[in-house]
Amino acid sequence: ITGMSDPFTPAIGIIGGSGLYDFDGFEGCREIEVITPYGTPSDKIVSGTFAGRRVYFLPRHAKGHRILPTELNHRANIWAMRSLNVRWIIAVTAVGSLKEEYKPRDVLLPDQFYDRTSRREHHTFFGRGLVAHVAFADPISAGLRNLLAQEARAAGATVHNGGTYVNMDGPAFSTRAESNANRQLGFDVIGMTNLPEAKLAREAEISLATLAMITDYDCWKTDEAHVTADAVMAHVSANAAMAKAIIAKVIPRIPLEPKWPEHRALDGAIMTDRKLWPE
Ligand code: ADE
Repeated sequence: ITGMSDPFTPAIGIIGGSGLYDFDGFEGCREIEVITPYGTPSDKIVSGTFAGRRVYFLPRHAKGHRILPTELNHRANIWAMRSLNVRWIIAVTAVGSLKEEYKPRDVLLPDQFYDRTSRREHHTFFGRGLVAHVAFADPISAGLRNLLAQEARAAGATVHNGGTYVNMDGPAFSTRAESNANRQLGFDVIGMTNLPEAKLAREAEISLATLAMITDYDCWKTDEAHVTADAVMAHVSANAAMAKAIIAKVIPRIPLEPKWPEHRALDGAIMTDRKLWPE
């Protein structure tokens, strides 16, 4: 790590998704290059303070959107955050809606994930002799999710607190048959990136919540004119502005000390060896 400062303060990480490549209002901004045992993160991490809190911002797909979902080095991204003592992550992500009542520009705060990815060997820090099975029945931090829900409502968003995010590989979107199958299984939104982040954050004892911003109705909704790229891009930029407004209000409400259940996830893990992270 180069340029790290103040490594002992529990910090807040923001992972920006499509449309969110920077975050305004950080004081004392610096760009940090982090190298991890898993390689380099998506981009340089921007460090600073916001509302008196230490914050780190990472654009998931890199500035200029250059990394495909399946090309993301999630382990490097989450390891880098943890090495900076990040103990809370707000993961912002663009999603497609699988239900009529979830409209473009609505905010959905998933409380469940369903895994339809295919390269899961990259979705754990364990292996190579260190075996652990961490509980993942409740993959999202309820504390952080509820803070996001409150502030999203206060900011005037239409908020759905809870729901299942189905994580596909991409990069191509679903076929109509797949989209209909996902709807029949009761899933709420679809995206390509968040499940591995949540899994790795749990192993890293980071409290994570996903701020899913709806950009489209996927391809199941055939009763209205086809969505245009222009319409989706307008939703993406409106969503980015809303995400920034919500996060700015949530940051000062995050506790100073990491004392939520997720912060001790490895205490309850079935594990053969020592703890992965220092106390
Ligand atoms: N991200 C945004 N919209 C999506 C969709 N329809 N399917 C998968 N990922 C998405």
